[in-house]
Formats: sequence, C-alpha cells, structure tokens
Amino acid sequence: MRIDVITIFPEYLSPLELSLIGRARREGLVDLQVHDLRSWTHDRHRTVDDTPLGGGAGMVMKPEPWAEAFAGVRAQGQESLGADVEPLIVFPNPAGSPFTQATAQEWSQCEWIIFACGRYEGIDERVYQHLADIGCEVALASLGDYVLNGGEVAVLAITEAVVRLIPGVVGNAESLVEESHSDGLLEYPLYTRPASWTDPQGILREAPPILLSGDHAKIAAWRREQSLQRTGERRPDLLE
Ligand code: ADE
Repeated sequence: MRIDVITIFPEYLSPLELSLIGRARREGLVDLQVHDLRSWTHDRHRTVDDTPLGGGAGMVMKPEPWAEAFAGVRAQGQESLGADVEPLIVFPNPAGSPFTQATAQEWSQCEWIIFACGRYEGIDERVYQHLADIGCEVALASLGDYVLNGGEVAVLAITEAVVRLIPGVVGNAESLVEESHSDGLLEYPLYTRPASWTDPQGILREAPPILLSGDHAKIAAWRREQSLQRTGERRPDLLE
C-alpha cells in the first residue's frame, strides 16, 4: 500500500517511523511519504491561509496550494504505481463520516491513500468540488464528536488502524480476529500468569478457573458471554 500525507506540520507524523508501522515501512509493506503543503506555495511567506470570505472567526486554507499539492503527489504516486492507479483522498474532518473498524477494514484493501490534513477553520470548499470534478474518490472521516486542532492526530490514528490490518504487519494474524470491534462486540477480559495473584493490598485475586480447565469449547462460550456483558455495560449502542 502507498500512503501520502499532505500537512503543514510534517514532523507531527514522525511517530509513524516507530513500532509496527515503522517496521512495515522498512520491510516495504507500506510506502509512506509525508509532504509539506508549503512546498506548493510561491510567495515569500509560504502562505497557506487567508481570512474567510463573508467574514467570521479564524482562517481558511487557500485552494491553490491544495490543488497543486494533489496534482504533484498524484503524479509522483502514479509514477511508481502506474498511470491508471487512482488514490482514495481522505480529509480528516470532525464533520465527516465516523471512522470505524469497518472503515479500517475497507481502506486496508486500498492500493493508495492520500491524507490531506486541514488546519485552522478548514479548507476552501472549492477544493472538494475540484477533486470531485476530476473524478477523484474523496472521503471525509471523523475520529469522533470532538474537535482537534487539525487532521494530523487523526491521520496517525487512522493510519495505525488501517496499516495493522495489512497482511504481514501484525505478526500474529489471529490476534486481529478476536480483538474489540472485529465482530461488532468489545473484547472479553484477558488474564495471564500467575493464575493466583496477591495484589499490593494483600488481596488474593484468582483468574477465572474456567481458563485453566483446558476445555476450549467452554472457554469460548465463557468469553462470548463476557463480550456480550461488557458490550451491554459499556457500549449498549453496539448491541442494538
Ligand atoms: N480534525 C479536527 N477534529 C477532527 C476529528 N474529530 N476527527 C477527524 N479530524 C478532525
């Protein structure tokens, strides 16, 4: 998979050099490139924003650098992937569709994603119209019902959720099957050794004995029950 990120804060994406995603990049499972939007400006101050037409608070991102950035990054990507390959362009945006595990599953099948990180109050609406007009597939994705200062943190989260689903990125593929949200439920509680643990208050805490029974069918049934109970308590909306 190829991923391009366009941002005015390239350093913000440096955590993507670490851990599983960093290793996936080094192993060539993901080709991830970060681009500075300001490299597509032409004035001395490398301006990417201006005041909103019609008045109002804050600043709006100008359309010209974005249109040039998409053209430049699209050309770079098509040089390596082929002229017939088109990216999915994702704008993290609190007014977008909720990003869920199902979205992560879908996007993990993409050959190429370009993330466009907005800042300030947002991006000039004509950028979206332009991309739709030239036939680009565009998605607005929200991490949740709260407002961040820009799209960068959302790109970190979305990229991690998507890339870990690419075969070979997570060592044990089975761990992807049982985790929270993979079947629409929250994951069951986990225990490890010691089976009997005395906590710092001196209280003896035993792991559920069924987990030591060796009866795999019973363990699976118990876990399913726990998942349902936990989902009902913490996320009743998921059960409906
Ligand atoms: N940018 C600002 N807030 C956001 C959110 N909640 N989700 C995605 N992108 C955002």
